[in-house]
Formats: sequence, C-alpha cells, structure tokens
Amino acid sequence: MDKLDKIEEMAALMSETERQYAYMQEARRLVEEESARLGRPLTANITTFGCQMNARDSEKLSGILREAGYVETESEDADFVIYNTCTVRENANQRVYGRLGVLHGYKKKNPHMKIALCGCMMQEPTVVEKLKKSYRFVDLIFGTHNIFKFAELLVRTLTSDRMIIDIWKDTDQIVEDLPTERKYPFKSGVNIMFGCNNFCSYCIVPYVRGRERSREPRDIIREIEALVRDGVREVMLLGQNVNSYGKTLEQPVSFAQLLKEVEQIDGLERIRFMTSHPKDLSDELIEVMAQSKKICRHLHLPLQSGSSRILKVMNRRYTKEQYVELAQKIRRAMPDIALSTDIIVGFPGETEEDFLETLDVVKTVRYDSAFTFIYSKRTGTPAAVMENQVPDEVVKDRFDRLLSCVQDISREMAERFTGSVQEALVEEPNEQLGGYVTGRLGNNHVVHFPGGTELIGQIVKVRLDECKGFYYMGSLMN
Ligand code: SAH
Ligand code: SF4
Ligand code: F3S
Repeated sequence: MDKLDKIEEMAALMSETERQYAYMQEARRLVEEESARLGRPLTANITTFGCQMNARDSEKLSGILREAGYVETESEDADFVIYNTCTVRENANQRVYGRLGVLHGYKKKNPHMKIALCGCMMQEPTVVEKLKKSYRFVDLIFGTHNIFKFAELLVRTLTSDRMIIDIWKDTDQIVEDLPTERKYPFKSGVNIMFGCNNFCSYCIVPYVRGRERSREPRDIIREIEALVRDGVREVMLLGQNVNSYGKTLEQPVSFAQLLKEVEQIDGLERIRFMTSHPKDLSDELIEVMAQSKKICRHLHLPLQSGSSRILKVMNRRYTKEQYVELAQKIRRAMPDIALSTDIIVGFPGETEEDFLETLDVVKTVRYDSAFTFIYSKRTGTPAAVMENQVPDEVVKDRFDRLLSCVQDISREMAERFTGSVQEALVEEPNEQLGGYVTGRLGNNHVVHFPGGTELIGQIVKVRLDECKGFYYMGSLMN
C-alpha cells in the first residue's frame, strides 16, 4: 500500500476538514523532500482576477500553500504558480490566456514548476477543452465548488506528471475551518453566502458559482470572533446578493438580523458588506444601518441600467422609479452615506433613449463612485443570443459619455467632505510620498496624510484638507 492509499483509507473515516489537514501534512512532506533536494525553499505565487469573493478564496489557497511549506513570492518565476480566474467579462479570460504563454516560458527553464488554474473561468467546459488541447503544460485545473480540497489536489499534482482536472458542476457543501493567510492583518473578507440564484440575463456568475447557499450565523460569528482575536478590526461580509442572506437556512435569518449580531462582537470596529441587490434591500436593513455604530456609511447598490425596459430584459426585477426611490430613502435615512454602483453600457437592444435614462439616474442619485462596464457577451447566458447587439462604436461613444458624467459627479460629491474630520483605518505606507500613509474612510474614500508606518492597522482621526477628485490629502488629528 503506498502512502497516498494509506491517507485515503484514513481519510474515509474523517470529516472533510480533517481530511484536508491530513493532505496538508502530506504536501508538507513532499515539499520538504523537494526543497532538500534543491537546497532551497520552494516558492509559490498566486494571481487573483475578479471580485472580492475570489480575493477571499485566494487567501484560502495561500493559507494551504503556507501550511504545505511554500514561501510566497511576488515573482511568477516560482515553483508553484496558481491563477484564480474570473470570467464575468471576456477581457478577463483573454488576460489569462496571454499570461499563460509567459508561464510556459518559465516552465521550460524549470521543468519541476507546477502551474495550476482555478476559479470561475474553469467552470466553463469550453475553457477546459481549450486548455486540454492547447495548454498541455498546465498541471492542475479545478473549479469554484471544490476549492476546499485544494490540499488534496496539491498532493495529487506533486505526485503525478499528468494534467489533473477536477471540476464539479455544483455543490451544497460548505467546508468550515480551513487555514487562511490574510493579505492585511487588520481587515478581512468573510463569506456569508456562496453562489447566486438571480440569473440576471447578462451574467455568468450563477452558472459558474452555483446555487445560493448561506452559512449558518453561528459559523460566521465564530469566524469573525477568531479574526478579531487575531487583530482584525474591519470585516467585509461577502455574497453576490447579501440582501437575500439566510432565507434558505433551516431557521431563516435576515441579513439585517445577522448584521445586528455581528455588531455585538467586542473589538470589531468596522463592518462593510457587498453586494446589495436593490430588489431585496429591506427597510429593516436601512434602519439597522442608520442605528449602527460599526457599519460603514457606504453602500454599493448596482444599477446596471436606468431604463425600466432594459432592466426588465436584464431580469433585475426593479424599475427605474423603484431604484431611485430606494436610493433617496437611503440618503434620507443617512445623509452622509456614500453610494456607489455598477453600470453596464451596450446591453442588447439598448437605444439612445434607454441610455439617456441611465444618465438621468446617475444625475438624480449622484453617486460617490461608479464602476462602468461595456457589455460583454457571455456564452450560455440568455442575453448572448438576443438580437440587436449594439455596434461597438455606439457602445464606445455611450461609455465615454457615461464615464465623464460619473466622474464629474464623483468629484463634486467628494468635495462635500472637504474640511471635515473623519476616522480612517490606516492601510499602508504611501508608495509615492515618503513619510505619508494611506487610510480608508468609512465611506470608502482614501486619504493620504503624513504619518509613520506604526499607524498601520490603527483607526485614527484625520482632517480632510484638500479633495483631489478621487482621494484626499489630510492631516492627522490628536
Ligand atoms: N452580484 C453583483 C454583481 C457581481 S458581477 C450584483 O448583482 O450587483 C460585478 C459587476 O459586473 C456587475 O454588477 C455588472 O455590472 C458587471 N457585469 C456582470 N456581467 C457582465 C457582462 N456580461 N458584461 C459586462 N458587465 C457585466
Ligand atoms: Fe450576476 Fe445578477 Fe447574480 Fe449579481 S445578482 S451575480 S449580476 S446574476
Ligand atoms: Fe468574476 Fe467569479 Fe467574481 S466570474 S466577478 S470572480 S464570482
């Protein structure tokens, strides 16, 4: 019986978490062996594409690589390289293929190098076919549903010369308590739910992330308490639609109720969350936010389009009027709140009139910041086969007009805080200005001010002296 069979026999008797820890131990033995042979530590590099959800997943990958004994490096010329991919728009995919060519060059010099791909793009069968055909040098491919078994897949990759592919179509499993390595010691993302059930007609996320599943409140609270003990002061609760959190749990809980519980955690100072779908945003949530001392005064409320007709075809399930009313209700309850949004330009069938409706919402709501995207056709989504795809030059023109409108408004909105004193969580030294640090305000704006690196991780009072459009220059208050 070889070593791997033995682990598998033991593993059958364990919980999933225990199994993965057993594989981490075995990976560690393999890495130590290789490292002794080479006379140097083995290095690993992770690149993350896409959203906060992927960023959090990468921290889990990083935690497992650390347990296995790899030393993380900035360079992609490493012993283990993994890309955690995104497929929400086509250009994300193109970037991955482009960079794989460069990795192949490194692998020719270092034949022991292992290249792994995971994340949303791998859930698309056409992508995996293409990799199998034209990118044979890739060693490991896995998807979003089985990321918890990365330790096991790592062991298999280190003991095999064949391309290992393990993609699941969906899962209802949530595996708790695996190691993570946080990018920042003082703040962390926390998954509260996985997947999405909304099926907006342009969006591939429900197909690559599977059905919506919420974690139990007690598991979320336990994780945050442990993070706080470890130095975390700010958490970002993550889900594709946090407003529908908890509806399918055995004992249903609302997102607002979860927030109230998180607020009680001693030592936690700031709470953020992402993303709020306008159709499910409750009055209860607005009330809890308005009364909270810890929930940051920032809400990301994706609009996508300002035309009720387009919104209907997008399957967003709100109208222009409902959205505007909601945004105004939120601003009435919390006048100092910063609102941000996502907008898609060039959805199939979008006319000039539809586009003007979008501009109208932007001018009415006056976003503090907005992410603007050119519609990207995603195979398998209903919108991909809709007629009336909008010509590129029309989309480009609308995109430029939208961008200049949102930028003008953001600049004006940022001005309203100039001169005020706000709390900032100091995140990093300023890279351009020696002797300066960069902090993040509750409303998600960034401020640069003179200060030493000992401030990093602390929440300090800063006066916003000058607004530079998308950031402030400030000074530390005592
Ligand atoms: N769950 C979040 C969105 C996650 S995807 C929500 O519902 O708001 C992040 C953003 O990418 C979306 O808000 C949307 O603006 C954009 N996006 C998604 N699919 C897209 C596509 N096919 N083309 C262009 N932008 C897209
Ligand atoms: Fe995509 Fe819509 Fe789900 Fe957001 S809510 S992830 S846009 S399907
Ligand atoms: Fe991209 Fe997947 Fe997030 S497709 S936006 S990484 S959920």
